[in-house]
Amino acid sequence: MVTPLMDIRGIRTHEEIADEVIKGDPELLKQVLMNIFLNAVQAMPDGGILKTIVSANCEFITVSVSDEGEGISKESIEKIFDPFFSTKDKGTGLGLAIANKIMQCHNGLIKVHNNDERGCTFCLYFPKGQNK
Ligand SMILES: Nc1ncnc2c1ncn2[C@@H]1O[C@H](COP(=O)(O)OP(=O)(O)OP(=O)(O)O)[C@@H](O)[C@H]1O
Ligand SMILES: [Mg+2]
Repeated sequence: MVTPLMDIRGIRTHEEIADEVIKGDPELLKQVLMNIFLNAVQAMPDGGILKTIVSANCEFITVSVSDEGEGISKESIEKIFDPFFSTKDKGTGLGLAIANKIMQCHNGLIKVHNNDERGCTFCLYFPKGQNK
């Protein structure tokens, strides 16, 4: 769904997907990923790499999405999951608030950190106990 915008902006993708199955509501989880992918694409107007990694340990299945955008300021990073917080001209600020709620409904967690070099990474943690 985000491919046309990615093509226009010259964004390439990189994927490393472990053979894991996440149990949950497919439509809601699609909405979580769509919001994160769209934010990542919007953060890279001049192109870059969108990296998606699915991995697992004994506790969690983790989906991480990294971009090479501008990253998130110290002031904003505390607020990005608040409803209606947006730094965009036409943003509603609901994308991540909804994603956060959906992750809670799956007994999961959503976290973000700025990357060492450029951009930021959103991590979705799904507890394994739920996903056997
Ligand atoms: N990948 C990202 N890189 C940089 N900043 C981000 C990224 N993802 C989110 N943000 C910041 O978090 C804010 C909130 O994101 P959220 O998706 O909730 O709302 P929005 O994108 O502004 O509006 P909407 O999703 O409703 O169109 C953004 O306005 C932006 O400041
Ligand atoms: Mg958004």
